[in-house]
Amino acid sequence: MQAISVQSAHGNYDIQVGDALLQSVGAVIAQKIPKARVAVLVVDQAIELTWAREVAASLQAAGLRVVTHVVHASEDNKSIAQVEKVWRLLLAERVQRSDVLCAMGGGIVGDMAAFAASTYMRGIATVMIPTTLLAMVDAAIGGKTAVNLPLSSDPLDAGHSKNLSTNLSTNLAKNMAGTICAPAWVASDVRTLTTLSTREFRCGLAECVKHALLVDASMLAWLETHREGLRAMDPARLVELVHRSASVKAAIVSRDEREQGERAHLNLGHTFAHAIESLLHDQVHHGEAVSIGLVAMAAASQAAGWWPDADKFQLSKRLTDLGLPVRMPAKVDREQLKNAMKLDKKGQSGAVRLVLLKGLGRPGVLDAASEQVINAGLDAIGS
Ligand SMILES: NC(=O)c1ccc[n+]([C@@H]2O[C@H](COP(=O)([O-])OP(=O)(O)OC[C@H]3O[C@@H](n4cnc5c(N)ncnc54)[C@H](O)[C@@H]3O)[C@@H](O)[C@H]2O)c1
Ligand SMILES: [Zn+2]
Repeated sequence: MQAISVQSAHGNYDIQVGDALLQSVGAVIAQKIPKARVAVLVVDQAIELTWAREVAASLQAAGLRVVTHVVHASEDNKSIAQVEKVWRLLLAERVQRSDVLCAMGGGIVGDMAAFAASTYMRGIATVMIPTTLLAMVDAAIGGKTAVNLPLSSDPLDAGHSKNLSTNLSTNLAKNMAGTICAPAWVASDVRTLTTLSTREFRCGLAECVKHALLVDASMLAWLETHREGLRAMDPARLVELVHRSASVKAAIVSRDEREQGERAHLNLGHTFAHAIESLLHDQVHHGEAVSIGLVAMAAASQAAGWWPDADKFQLSKRLTDLGLPVRMPAKVDREQLKNAMKLDKKGQSGAVRLVLLKGLGRPGVLDAASEQVINAGLDAIGS
């Protein structure tokens, strides 16, 4: 399948999607980054003994010295402490500006490792090897790297922390420090998805639906037609899914790398989703919150008069058919949800900013959503 090309101010790069890519990672890196002598493989613990071994063997076969560093994927570990461990390892292994770091795993390991690579010696080449569906279609594309910051427990600082995008139950300010730094290459081998839990796979599907809504009706129709093939993890269907969905994000970030306009559309459903996640952190994963958030978004779009026949589109049913949740999994106080929405960092101070649809493929930003619009969204998800 043809590579997807991404335009970036730091240099354009390709996203390769396939079902037998891991074995060739070393050869491609040797060709794309010919001066590299050392490849540091920062890898998600979940795949250390499986997929990571194939990549390490391929890097070695291409003549690179491989240094492997394993990280347990948790939001707590998306931290500056973990970044420092990677920096120290790079220093101890005398990694040079011309060497390469491969970030292999889901979005957590990808964001943290890519942050470390983009800052060590002011930036060494990064190759992203995403192994979750969400990372393949979203996190590994667009060059955003990040770590979370702990919220201060110092009462003197508490007032300040209140204004940040927070996860109220984990006490983390998410993605508060980071860089935008294009990778040298993104290699998405869908075979790795065969070891992913069904739950995590569906979380990625929610972002695929989000991307589908941002373009037109064709991709949602495709998702419905190929539901069985996807459920059976048919490699050809998975390659097509990732290729189609990654292409949507690639096109948007190519036009607006630094989120001055259009890139914000990728937050479709996310103001609702972040609020749900922040209050029900131990019950919902991000992709599940996105699915519920998309339902709220459709109802809010209708209430705002933007998408008058949104209900006819039956987004809830479509998401349910894909195995995704569409209602709040537990009762949450509505005012608390609204307050969490106001705190979302994408909002202007105090006002709730929503990305809504004027129809399929026609997103726009509503800067200060009215109570009525927000309530319509929350009614739709049973909050
Ligand atoms: N940089 C960006 O633009 C961007 C965009 C979206 C999300 N993100 C970030 O991505 C993170 C979420 O990423 P995620 O959904 O991939 O979660 P994740 O990294 O937590 O991975 C999900 C789970 O799957 C496991 N796993 C990974 N690959 C596996 C495989 N092939 N087989 C079995 N298990 C596997 C992980 O160990 C983890 O337990 C968040 O921190 C979010 O902020 C970043
Ligand atoms: Zn998301």
